[in-house]
Amino acid sequence: MPTIAIDGPAAAGKGTLSRKIADHYRFHHLDTGLTYRAVAQALLKARLPLDNPAEAVDVARAIDLAQLDRDVLADHAIGEAASKIAVMPEVRRALVDAQRTFSHRAPGTVLDGRDIGTVVCPDAEVKLYVTAKPEVRADRRFKEILLSGAQASFDDVLDDIRRRDERDMGRADSPLKPAEDAHLIDTSEMGIEAAFEAARRIIDAAL
Ligand code: C5P
Repeated sequence: MPTIAIDGPAAAGKGTLSRKIADHYRFHHLDTGLTYRAVAQALLKARLPLDNPAEAVDVARAIDLAQLDRDVLADHAIGEAASKIAVMPEVRRALVDAQRTFSHRAPGTVLDGRDIGTVVCPDAEVKLYVTAKPEVRADRRFKEILLSGAQASFDDVLDDIRRRDERDMGRADSPLKPAEDAHLIDTSEMGIEAAFEAARRIIDAAL
């Protein structure tokens, strides 16, 4: 069963690209960031600490992939908390088990996250690493926030992006990095349609 693994930092465009790819090939799609966000949200709601593996792992084991709702989990504070709980190896193991099981679904799957090509699905038929310059990613996030009617300062958004990159790339367990056999797609100067065309060419050549 083919698996397409898509990794990259926050706001690089990998979410939109993954959904487009999954629609095009009629594959199942899992945004693995939502699994970390769901654990973070449950801990925040129960006012439990974000650094206690024993409690977090119980929550992680109980996550139902069918119930993940992007709208509910999109909140910025949940994203921040998710990157904190994502440093705990016990939590990662529980979520990776569920993600791997998902990756075997027929007729094929698209998983996006930070460690799909390196850890979750190292044998994926296609691996993409989608990235863009921090300033470009911050600009996209900034515009999204303004469009939603909320307030933000560009510098704060850029600081957040940099902090999240540091945490995700610097952690000991499953740091964000391209797999050796990943194809790089830099969306700094590319719209979503061009990124999709680049991805489609790579996938069609591999499947
Ligand atoms: O992609 P998203 O912003 O929803 O991810 C939230 C956080 O979850 C990331 O900053 C990262 O720390 C963590 N994550 C992870 N591994 C994944 C997906 C997300 O560590 N495969």
